[in-house]
Amino acid sequence: MSLAPEDVNLQKIWRYYDRGESRIGYRYILGGTKHFGYYEPGQTRWAFAAAMRQMEDRLGRELGLGAGARVLDAGCGVGNVARAMAVRHGLDVTGVDILDFNIAEAARRSGKARLSGRTHFRVGDYHHLPFPDDSFDGLYTMETFVHSADPKAALAEFGRVLKPGGKLVMFEYSRTPDDQVSAEANAAMQRVCDEAAMPAWLMLYHGVLDEMLGDAGFTNRQSVDITANMMPMASAFYLIGKFPFWVGRVTGLEYKVVNAMSARMMFRYKEAWRYGIHTAVNTG
Ligand SMILES: C[S@@+](CC[C@H](N)C(=O)[O-])C[C@H]1O[C@@H](n2cnc3c(N)ncnc32)[C@H](O)[C@@H]1O
Repeated sequence: MSLAPEDVNLQKIWRYYDRGESRIGYRYILGGTKHFGYYEPGQTRWAFAAAMRQMEDRLGRELGLGAGARVLDAGCGVGNVARAMAVRHGLDVTGVDILDFNIAEAARRSGKARLSGRTHFRVGDYHHLPFPDDSFDGLYTMETFVHSADPKAALAEFGRVLKPGGKLVMFEYSRTPDDQVSAEANAAMQRVCDEAAMPAWLMLYHGVLDEMLGDAGFTNRQSVDITANMMPMASAFYLIGKFPFWVGRVTGLEYKVVNAMSARMMFRYKEAWRYGIHTAVNTG
């Protein structure tokens, strides 16, 4: 039996996050969180924890919802962002992730933090959300939409589960048009997206997500480019990735150091992408 393209993609995502390099890297460098930090001017690039909390607080402010509002975290990882939204912004957060080991860890961490009443987790694919229509006051994605096999279908789902007037906030990457960057930069983008299972990033050229949001019926759309605010962390990862990437190259085991390769390529070819905050309101 042959698999549908979206199932092949889910398998690739699984392999990418299940690999030793991903598990060890995210756990020991970022405490399990898997998003970039937001740096204020002059802040050292090595202040990972502070910068990640600043990024999460920016998310909380962009959502702008009152205490107790019901929010969906699509692609929640181990739930660190969901807990930040619950503790620091008073939200009632449900997280979905396709990886069962992430959801198990998210529930464990929330139990330990006595946050099981305000954070809820379940395995799910954001292209087919396991919730009724009009379930949430807000929905956010934090660095997951690049993995989508079908961005339009995912946005339709986001609109379905959001209440009319519900707030959507997406912290996501976009791509510079191919003809504005070098062949090397395009080849690097292609390689990073192939090996880290990020098909949507290849098609989400600057502005495309906002057009898609409009087509999906979202209004009050706004985008802010915050690449400069996350670049210090990208530059730190570039340095951290140097040795493992070199070892991978000389041993012929490059395929085992995808994160190191991505860190090197993303920073070297930083003209090929941007990082933005996209906000919109569901029309219902
Ligand atoms: C870079 S991590 C970000 C995790 C979390 N948002 C954070 O900031 O720590 C991307 C996450 O999206 C999840 N993901 C990818 N595709 C998904 C899908 N179709 N449905 C649900 N989760 C998905 C992955 O399993 C992974 O945990």
